[in-house]
Amino acid sequence: MKFLPLFCLTLLLSFQIGSAQLKKASTPANKKMDVFIDDLLSKMTLDEKIGQLNLLTGGEATTGSVVSKDVENKIRNGQVGGIFSLTTPARIRKAQHTAVTQSRLKIPIIFGQDVIHGYKTTFPIPLALSGTWDMALIQETARIAAVEATADGINWTFSPMVDISRDPRWGRMSEGSGEDTYLGSQIARAMVKGYQGDNLSKYNTLMACVKHFALYGAAEAGRDYNTTDMSLDRMYNEYLPPYKAALDAGAGSVMTSFNDINGVPATANNWLMTDLLRKQWGFDGLVVTDYTAVNELIDHGLGDLQTVSALSLNAGVDMDMVGEGFLTTLKKSVEQGKVKQGRIDDACRLVLEAKYKLGLFEDPFRYCNEERAKKEILKPEHLAVARKAATESFVLLKNADQTLPLTKKGTIALIGPLANSGVNMPGTWSVNSDLANTKSLLQGMQAAAGKEVKILHSLGSNLLADAQYQERATMFGREIPRDNRPEQEIIAEAVKLAEQADVVVAALGESSEMSGESSSRTDLEIPKVQRNLLEALLKTGKPVVLVLFTGRPLALTWEAEHVPAILNVWFGGTEAANAIADVLFGKVNPSGKLTATFPQNVGQVPLYYAHKNTGRPLADGAWFSKFRSNYLDVSNDPLYPFGYGLSYTTFSYSDLKLNTDSFKSGETITASITVKNTGLVEGKEVVQLYIRDLVGSSTRPVKELKGFQKINLKPGEVKTVNFTIKESDLKFYNTALEFLAEPGDFKVFIGGNSRDVMETGFSFY
Ligand code: NOJ
Repeated sequence: MKFLPLFCLTLLLSFQIGSAQLKKASTPANKKMDVFIDDLLSKMTLDEKIGQLNLLTGGEATTGSVVSKDVENKIRNGQVGGIFSLTTPARIRKAQHTAVTQSRLKIPIIFGQDVIHGYKTTFPIPLALSGTWDMALIQETARIAAVEATADGINWTFSPMVDISRDPRWGRMSEGSGEDTYLGSQIARAMVKGYQGDNLSKYNTLMACVKHFALYGAAEAGRDYNTTDMSLDRMYNEYLPPYKAALDAGAGSVMTSFNDINGVPATANNWLMTDLLRKQWGFDGLVVTDYTAVNELIDHGLGDLQTVSALSLNAGVDMDMVGEGFLTTLKKSVEQGKVKQGRIDDACRLVLEAKYKLGLFEDPFRYCNEERAKKEILKPEHLAVARKAATESFVLLKNADQTLPLTKKGTIALIGPLANSGVNMPGTWSVNSDLANTKSLLQGMQAAAGKEVKILHSLGSNLLADAQYQERATMFGREIPRDNRPEQEIIAEAVKLAEQADVVVAALGESSEMSGESSSRTDLEIPKVQRNLLEALLKTGKPVVLVLFTGRPLALTWEAEHVPAILNVWFGGTEAANAIADVLFGKVNPSGKLTATFPQNVGQVPLYYAHKNTGRPLADGAWFSKFRSNYLDVSNDPLYPFGYGLSYTTFSYSDLKLNTDSFKSGETITASITVKNTGLVEGKEVVQLYIRDLVGSSTRPVKELKGFQKINLKPGEVKTVNFTIKESDLKFYNTALEFLAEPGDFKVFIGGNSRDVMETGFSFY
């Protein structure tokens, strides 16, 4: 047993659990639910119970390669527990109607959807949104997503995605909150609260689904779906906490991941789903697989469909997404004694409980409300939040000579393959976004510029030189028209426009589908054909602003050296175009801070600030030293560190103080710092607190984020920011997986990013 020590420990730590069915709190509401479900279960045949474990796709949004067939008939036969990716309320209503009028027991269906960063009102991609460092705002985006999606009949979202990732080659970094455990955990909580509110049965709350359980973001070499092999130290201290935080916030469901974890794929991993999730963490909600993940266990090499379906159910999966392995084999497995009927009862109970908690037995159509949909979807208040979230997510990476903001006068040449593409604005995993009506940057800038600005535009280059690569990178309606003239001709046309302009805005980078699922890259630079364009634009001698579209950290070493201003706008959602214009013209001062390290080149990856020191660290300030841990060709430094982001103003930090130099268990210590706006405009700053445990029973990271505050300062304004440090901030899982704070000396760092900090220290005893 690979996980033997841990397994024993989990049993020790486990909550009181008799069978796989978890004991819920004995509240009157739970008792009532149990009576209802006991009664329903007593009426169900084995086939009907297995039917509830079947989650099918309506196939209207492409989120996987298999599309469910004969869905209507299966509903009638009691073979469907849930459906996702039905994108119209009319179809949801029809499917529900069939279930509650034509199936024998009239059990309503649960309707899922990938509501990832908003519904019709689409917010910035999650990686961007995390860069706002604004938990209330993030919660509000999830709340709005719930309000809109529920009006269209959806009651279950496959979000939040809380996978920590430190490898930008992995395309799905765009869907998560970056590299940091502490920040990721806060965001996980905010999202769950936003979706679920405090009452799941309300007509406008969605059940959250925490994914992908687990460790999906640590795929080897950043290749999607690839193997994860990870120590328990890293798992417990760095990768698992965000899942746990989402569950502690009450998330109703969990989605398993596709990857292999230390030799056992997550979807068949008994330790993961039963020992850890159920017994150690006490999770009593629903566990669903990812898309055909049960069937994929065959390719993982675990057996035929019947074997893997039994394995998966026995390991703790309740619901099978799309693959129908449960539907087609579990009965046989029960008959052959490979699966206990009790396990099916438990899984079925959890599916029914989810429906009960959502209020679907009371009113199966609670979430279909065409009138509400008309009023609430894309309403101005929602769009205003989307615009605000987008402006706050943008990260100003460089701004030499105050190239930005632009003045609303003169001629601007807006050049680049992403300059006039509305369909790329919402970003990956925005299956509900109205692509056709999303403004392009050109439209956004035209709307904001006013009469005294002339905007010239040309494509300047294709997205990618290779037409087939471009096709792979612009799927799902995110096409960018190709220009088949020779590259030099397209560039020459753009250069001509640039020469007539006062300033050049180059809209370059990735298309939205260059990140996301199955969109891994081995090259993290801006595509060569676009770099060629940029070089030509810079040669005109005009000031150039790079408006960078990306779903992941890129290697921008060349751009950082040559381009005067770089504004990273990620993919900003429905209101991206207006939001970019707001920031370019200085209506909004950028304040986003990176939540994932930008490397100097792809060879440094994985690169993250909370690394261990090694036995041969480099001396401070050195970048190479023989027999130390470094590279021959490039320093260990990132190009842009975690937490980094500039503003149109500047901030100074001074006077870092602790109220005492030591504290003991049960007490706290307060760190304070003075921050001043030393520039000429009002601005927001994310003040970040990091801690280092200097000596531990196991090795500890050189810095760990343990607090942050986003403050607003007028020009010249000074604020003192206080952080209370508690014993829990010092805790970590030791090698015996005990979560505790060890006495000793700690360093405290505070600053505007993980690199540029002031430091002091205290001891804990
Ligand atoms: C596969 C993805 O991995 C997952 O994130 C998504 O929720 C499902 N497909 C359903 O679309």
